[in-house]
Amino acid sequence: MLDLLLQSTSVSLLGTLGVLLLVYFISSTSFSSKGEGKEPPGPRPLPVLGNLLQLDLKRPFITLLKLSKKYGSVFTVYLGPQKVVVLAGYKTVKEALINYADEFGERDPIRIAQEDDQGNGVVWSNGDSWRDMRRFVLTNLRDFGMGKKACEDKIIEECGYLVEVFKGFNGEPFDTTQSVNYSVSNIICSIVYGSRFEYSDPKFTSMVDKANRRIELLGSPSIQMYNLFPWLGIFIGDRREILKINSSFKEENSAMFHHLKETLNPQMCRGLVDAFLVRKQSLEDSGNTNSNFHDENLMMTVKNLFVAGTETTATTIRWGLLLMAKYPKIQDRVQEEISTVIGSRQVQVEDRKSLPFTDAVIHETQRLANIVPMALAHRTSQDVTFQGFFIKKGTVVYPLLTSVLYDESEWEKPHSFHPAHFLDKDGKFVKRDAFMPFSAGRRICLGEGLARMELFIFFTTLLQRFRFTPAPGVSEDELDLTPRVGLSLNPSPHKLCAGTTVFIHLTSVLYDESEWEKPLSFHPVHFLDKDGKFVKRDAFMPFSAGRRMCLGEGLAQMELFIFFTTLLQRFRFTPAPGVSEDELDLTPRVGVRTLNPSPHELCAVPLM
Ligand code: HEM
Repeated sequence: MLDLLLQSTSVSLLGTLGVLLLVYFISSTSFSSKGEGKEPPGPRPLPVLGNLLQLDLKRPFITLLKLSKKYGSVFTVYLGPQKVVVLAGYKTVKEALINYADEFGERDPIRIAQEDDQGNGVVWSNGDSWRDMRRFVLTNLRDFGMGKKACEDKIIEECGYLVEVFKGFNGEPFDTTQSVNYSVSNIICSIVYGSRFEYSDPKFTSMVDKANRRIELLGSPSIQMYNLFPWLGIFIGDRREILKINSSFKEENSAMFHHLKETLNPQMCRGLVDAFLVRKQSLEDSGNTNSNFHDENLMMTVKNLFVAGTETTATTIRWGLLLMAKYPKIQDRVQEEISTVIGSRQVQVEDRKSLPFTDAVIHETQRLANIVPMALAHRTSQDVTFQGFFIKKGTVVYPLLTSVLYDESEWEKPHSFHPAHFLDKDGKFVKRDAFMPFSAGRRICLGEGLARMELFIFFTTLLQRFRFTPAPGVSEDELDLTPRVGLSLNPSPHKLCAGTTVFIHLTSVLYDESEWEKPLSFHPVHFLDKDGKFVKRDAFMPFSAGRRMCLGEGLAQMELFIFFTTLLQRFRFTPAPGVSEDELDLTPRVGVRTLNPSPHELCAVPLM
């Protein structure tokens, strides 16, 4: 019941709660500083409630962004009894997370997660256990996943299954959530368990659906209140649902670990769980029974990877498809680039450098979607003086990633979908320092490499195969970009149509070996009969054919004839001095729509 009330009228409810809490907490909470130095400024807190009444609990990052305009890039807010220092803007977040990596590098585990994780796993842990698990996961992601050809193949294979699911909707509107989640989840499952699951396997689908629901619940106003005021626990239905999901996840995984243990071959690890079991055994064999490689750490690490590795990437892909449906002209340019450079063959990771516009669109999707707006809460590991402010050891710190991704002094159009943020004036891809959706420093997302590979292959393959449009009767303008509340920012519920894209590969016509005598040579005789008369050829189709054939064909033919003939009448064209005819390079430069000659210079010697 409390959940419902909190979701609908958080402000008025908080007013009532405030009175109760005032009585409950008055003796135990102090907002005053102990005076070691100047503390970061911030809005004046109320007793017990702190600044909660000023905060939009559904979108706290928006309120914090506004507060940063008033109080600067390092400021304090009180969430109930909890003091939080917020870091805002690219320069400040980068300075803190990179130059003061140790000081700002601890995790502040939220109450609801701590109850389950008990300091195990990677996401919510600290100290030696965190270090061991993070190192182990990174090594294994390298061995079984990131940056490896084998991983690329897994992603390509999984994307193929997703394409089949999309095709099955026959262009009818559908919600992309489940299919994209299952597909992305299978990649982390292959890395972790060593095998993928069928989308029809109810155990698998229920695990993915529950993980998704859990993320939604973790960001709900009622759970945020629970994290601050744990005594509310018994009233909060969302918490009971989370506890239920936690125990069913443990049950499923215990069964899976049991099976993997029984079939384990230490010489041939199938995935990260096998590698963990082997390491645990070898430590125990050498007499070390007190290491961090124990069952609870295995369970929580797997859970962290399953949840963090599914929801984030899947959500970003779904934002990408939604943005394409909303901005069809940008979708046109992506599809033209893919069609020119890739045609209909399978996309590979190394194609990224030849697809600058598509790459820019993926980066811009991540920037605007801003799916983890406040990172995950950090904590200071020691007293620190930062930008002249004293911050005590153990203070909760929010690196406000929204304020980096939307930083007005870094981005030309921070609040618009503007792929040109990542392109130079020649249309080449450019990296931007303030692109920080994976955070930075000691706690930077450890799945960044994998996620980037997944995003590229999924997005490009889906755009190669489908045209995404709003459901019939919904205009592009009506597609809503307001995010749904959760620990991460998801698109609000919506449906899209995925129409099949047909590629007309004109190269295969103009170079058709059964049509042209010398398809790959410059051979004007292709258009002459034996008496030297011009002949039309059916396979001459540079303007395409049919209903969508180039409508400028007549004009273009006339221009080509007059320009070419007049220029050849007046000039003799030769390579630049010192360049032989053989050295003139016919390799085309790839543009978005057209193949251009590579840069070169010619001499035009007048004939008269
Ligand atoms: C588009 C996809 C993704 C985004 C935007 C993303 C973003 C983030 C962010 C912002 C953090 C918090 C960093 C901080 O607290 O400063 C994080 C942490 C983490 N991410 Fe990701 N992530 C993505 C994909 C993945 C994937 C695929 C995996 C799994 C392989 C993963 C595993 C983790 C883990 C384990 C942590 C905790 C790291 C630690 O505390 O040491 N993430 N991620």
